[in-house]
Amino acid sequence: MDITYDTKVFIAGCGGMLGEAVYKRFVDSCNVLATDIDLNEPWLEYADVRDLDGMLRLVRQFDPDLIINLAALTDLEYCERNPDDAWQTNALGAENMALISQMLDVRHVYISTAGIFDGQQEFYNDFDEPNPLSIYGKAKYYGERTVEKMLSKYFIFRAGWMMGGCEKDKKFINKIFKQIIAGKNKLAVVDDKLGTPTYTYDFADSIFRIMQFDYYGIYNMTCKGSCSRYDVAMEFLSAIGMDDKVTIEVVDSDYFSKEYFAPRPHSEKLVSMKLDARNIYYMRDWKQCLNEYSQHFKQVLKEQAVLEV
Ligand SMILES: NC(=O)c1ccc[n+]([C@@H]2O[C@H](COP(=O)([O-])OP(=O)(O)OC[C@H]3O[C@@H](n4cnc5c(N)ncnc54)[C@H](OP(=O)(O)O)[C@@H]3O)[C@@H](O)[C@H]2O)c1
Repeated sequence: MDITYDTKVFIAGCGGMLGEAVYKRFVDSCNVLATDIDLNEPWLEYADVRDLDGMLRLVRQFDPDLIINLAALTDLEYCERNPDDAWQTNALGAENMALISQMLDVRHVYISTAGIFDGQQEFYNDFDEPNPLSIYGKAKYYGERTVEKMLSKYFIFRAGWMMGGCEKDKKFINKIFKQIIAGKNKLAVVDDKLGTPTYTYDFADSIFRIMQFDYYGIYNMTCKGSCSRYDVAMEFLSAIGMDDKVTIEVVDSDYFSKEYFAPRPHSEKLVSMKLDARNIYYMRDWKQCLNEYSQHFKQVLKEQAVLEV
């Protein structure tokens, strides 16, 4: 499929940290309708993946060539506390979007997660058997299986530890940064959780580039390399020039067991074996991506220092 200015791309759940990158990557090259339930940008239109009728009406009206479903509840603790909402958004929502793709015969992209694995192995390739531990992981895995069963022209891309989106970043990097900005000079960080960081801008660029091939199927898609949360925090502190001002106290996951009570795999390291073998692995090394992403936070620190003078 060649993406041209006439290609119509419908995006659900585009108001989040990955949506920002996907919208930016696609908007100048084709005709995009970006939707979400959280209208945090002027370019977003309202659409709820749980509402099959309303969604179908909007998608049918737009008549897209490609549907990208990014919509999800991504807070694991919220999903444990609100399982009905998690199932309706992450599983039924995925099924609704797949059904619409099937009815309108439109190519489909679904984003899955390393959280579908149980973490017993250190590395997971595209062929390893999922065994999700959390409600979030279970509902996302249901989404994968549904897309796979219902459609033939689909891509499922499994992401790892997402980083990107700056103010929209709800995950580790921004959580660390918020503590630094609040004046904390000692951070507790775990070293018993392993994974593969996934830079939203590389991920969005990869989706865009892979769309030109008809290599449908399931793919692990993360940055190159792997690490622990501690490694990520150290790299980030050094990249923003705070490694001499902020220290890290290494703790294990029990330390956060009240705050982060959802079950998480010990290892979520993904190997992007299929992308690599098919010569369509466009993600860069996680350290290079983190250093690039850190420039935004460095700038915020500079502006803050100017304000404090
Ligand atoms: N973040 C990660 O670490 C990570 C890792 C692996 C895979 N993924 C997957 O990547 C995809 C994109 O997630 P993200 O990282 O961009 O997370 P995000 O920032 O939470 O974005 C998800 C967006 O979906 C919206 N949404 C929630 N319920 C919806 C509904 N019923 N209908 C339409 N939109 C809805 C959210 O709105 P609200 O903000 O109002 O909830 C949010 O704007 C998801 O499929 C996620 O499962 C994420």
